[in-house]
Amino acid sequence: MSSIKCKRVMNGFQRINVIPKSKKLRTTIIWVILLTICLLIFRYKNIKIDQKNIQQLVSHRSVQLVKYKGQTIGTEFEQFYMNVSSDKLMDPLIHKHQYRTFLNTGNECKAKHKFILVFIYSATYKFDGRQIIRNTFGSISNFANRDIQYVFVLGQTNNDTLQGKIEKENVRYKDIIQGNFIDSYKNLTYKRVFSLFWINKYCKDAIYVIKIDDDITINIPLLIPYLNNKINKNITNVLECFTIFRSQPYRRPRSKWYTPLSDYPFPTFPPYCAGPSSIMSINVIRRMYKATSIVPFFWLEDVYGSGFLPWILNIEIVQPICYIKDMHQSVNKKPCHFFYINNIKNVSDSYEMWRTLETDNKLKQNHTCKCW
Ligand SMILES: *[C@@H]1O[C@H](CO)[C@@H](O)[C@H](O)[C@H]1NC(C)=O
Ligand SMILES: *[C@@H]1O[C@H](CO)[C@@H](O)[C@H](O)[C@H]1NC(C)=O
Ligand SMILES: *[C@@H]1O[C@H](CO)[C@@H](O)[C@H](O)[C@H]1NC(C)=O
Ligand SMILES: *[C@@H]1O[C@H](CO)[C@@H](O)[C@H](O)[C@H]1NC(C)=O
Ligand SMILES: *[C@@H]1O[C@H](CO)[C@@H](O)[C@H](O)[C@H]1NC(C)=O
Ligand SMILES: *[C@@H]1O[C@H](CO)[C@@H](O)[C@H](O)[C@H]1NC(C)=O
Repeated sequence: MSSIKCKRVMNGFQRINVIPKSKKLRTTIIWVILLTICLLIFRYKNIKIDQKNIQQLVSHRSVQLVKYKGQTIGTEFEQFYMNVSSDKLMDPLIHKHQYRTFLNTGNECKAKHKFILVFIYSATYKFDGRQIIRNTFGSISNFANRDIQYVFVLGQTNNDTLQGKIEKENVRYKDIIQGNFIDSYKNLTYKRVFSLFWINKYCKDAIYVIKIDDDITINIPLLIPYLNNKINKNITNVLECFTIFRSQPYRRPRSKWYTPLSDYPFPTFPPYCAGPSSIMSINVIRRMYKATSIVPFFWLEDVYGSGFLPWILNIEIVQPICYIKDMHQSVNKKPCHFFYINNIKNVSDSYEMWRTLETDNKLKQNHTCKCW
């Protein structure tokens, strides 16, 4: 807000040249004072955010090593946001939340209470991947009286033909949202924060949010009772996933995940959720969204969104026992995992996995999987 005001003052400053000299001097002085006040307010605001909020959040943990889920981990990465200058918190999207939604779904979130909101990170050109999901588990919009909504999250494209096709697709299915950033691998953190923005704006009454990649199949019949059980036990602050500990940045420039020292100087990342899937309760989403405004941008979205944000908020990551399994090894077997990942990208595996889940569900056996 104050940055906008400052800009207006500057514009006014340029326009006063035509005014007579004495008046001009007085006006100049007034403008200089205003500008100074404006800058002071602006500085003060940022300092307040940096120091008060961050230190409140992490001071109790500022030691070199901590035990986290039985593992000893370094905490040097806390410097990533504890000692940050305010110019690193100026990204219009990540920190100021100036997001716009170019394509949007209907209003279903308001009309009906969603038990699970599934966010599928899809690339603009992946029409087939989206269709497989609609044809398989994505066709279950209600299970055991729990409503489920699926949303494909996309960025922008410069290709007008492609954009036209996406818009047509959305007229038909109304399940795509598109944010104001170019859809690319390097921009996934923008997608992550856009998701948080969108949920807070359009679907903040959902109970759980699940984030997946487009090569994942969800075992809805196993997941719903699992989450019901959490509700019955009043468990909040849910962040569950396949957890990665003590992971080190890739320092070789040819790596797909190359992270130069200038982007991140510390030897390890905080514990974080592997990219393909995670389960979050809505209060975690809300808290993470707020925290984005004080954490500097970092392009690896899983490290940023499920590492830095939960760490700064002191949200513990849990890895359930039945979390994820390779799909190819799981077709036609008893489905006792929440997520299946199509590692070899074989489309028929996705359809077979779906048939496996459907068959198991039709048998209506009480679950023999011991997952909780
Ligand atoms: C914070 O940053 C300043 C300047 O970059 C540096 O001199 C100082 O050592 C840093 N403090 C910590 C605790 O890292
Ligand atoms: C634009 O998208 C269309 C439709 O997906 C595709 O056929 C075409 O090759 C794309 N053009 C460029 C320049 O990438
Ligand atoms: C997104 O990525 C493209 C290239 O991959 C880049 O030009 C652009 O500046 C990035 N950021 C946003 C906010 O779109
Ligand atoms: C859950 O919370 C409700 C209301 O806050 C309370 O009535 C109920 O006893 C709690 N259940 C458990 C298992 O703690
Ligand atoms: C894909 O998987 C199906 C069933 O598991 C198998 O029959 C088929 O040969 C596979 N296709 C490829 C290209 O690997
Ligand atoms: C399945 O579980 C429910 C309660 O969870 C129970 O009422 C029912 O009898 C069980 N059915 C079988 C076949 O075990």
